[in-house]
Amino acid sequence: MIPVAVLASGRGSNFEAIAEAVSAGRLPARIVALVCDRPGAEVISRARAHGVPVAVVPGPKLAGLSDEARARAREEHDRAIMSAIERELAGAGGDSPALPRFLVLAGYMRLMSPWLIERFRGERGYSRIVNIHPSLLPAFPGVESYAQAWRHGAKVAGATVHLVEDAMDSGPICAQEAFPIGGCRSAEEVERLGLAVEHRLYPETLAWVLSERFDVEMDSTERRLRVCPH
Ligand code: GRF
Repeated sequence: MIPVAVLASGRGSNFEAIAEAVSAGRLPARIVALVCDRPGAEVISRARAHGVPVAVVPGPKLAGLSDEARARAREEHDRAIMSAIERELAGAGGDSPALPRFLVLAGYMRLMSPWLIERFRGERGYSRIVNIHPSLLPAFPGVESYAQAWRHGAKVAGATVHLVEDAMDSGPICAQEAFPIGGCRSAEEVERLGLAVEHRLYPETLAWVLSERFDVEMDSTERRLRVCPH
């Protein structure tokens, strides 16, 4: 089983889908910790209900800081996260699992520091940090992407699973799925449809990403890694 830590900030419906896939044997992973930056977030009780150790590491306030101070604060927070995971594992007793090989982001609302991305970079060049984003990237990066698609009058929306690199919502794309929204009457309806897609797409994609059953190719024009499952 591949040891992973899940990072999440809020509701945790994707955490739930992943934890269920693990319990059902559809995902060859062991969730060694749930890390949450928001005390009181719903995902914390979901993790406890699944018997997953929880580390709450409140994130720093970044508003008003200079770029350098932000970068420093992000790295300190990421270092605190790794120490918290190590503490959880040390406290797990005799059968303590290995350090996570992958970080799985599931509604985690912070940017990663370059330090953390390098910490999880494998010998094949990509980072072992995976994220799900609620749009067909590179369309609608940032926050509230289903609402962005709705406000834009888009006829399709979608979800993207990608490996994480330094710039926000960038990084090699592993899987995408589109769904029609022309008949939707609100942004909430788009989100409802999108979450149903995410809850299937994320565990399915993680099954081959975590096992590293893919080739990576470098696109020489874009200098971008391509992920090709096999
Ligand atoms: C999802 O739409 C996910 O794609 C995005 O944040 C949302 C998290 O929802 N990154 P939940 O916390 O998993 O319910």
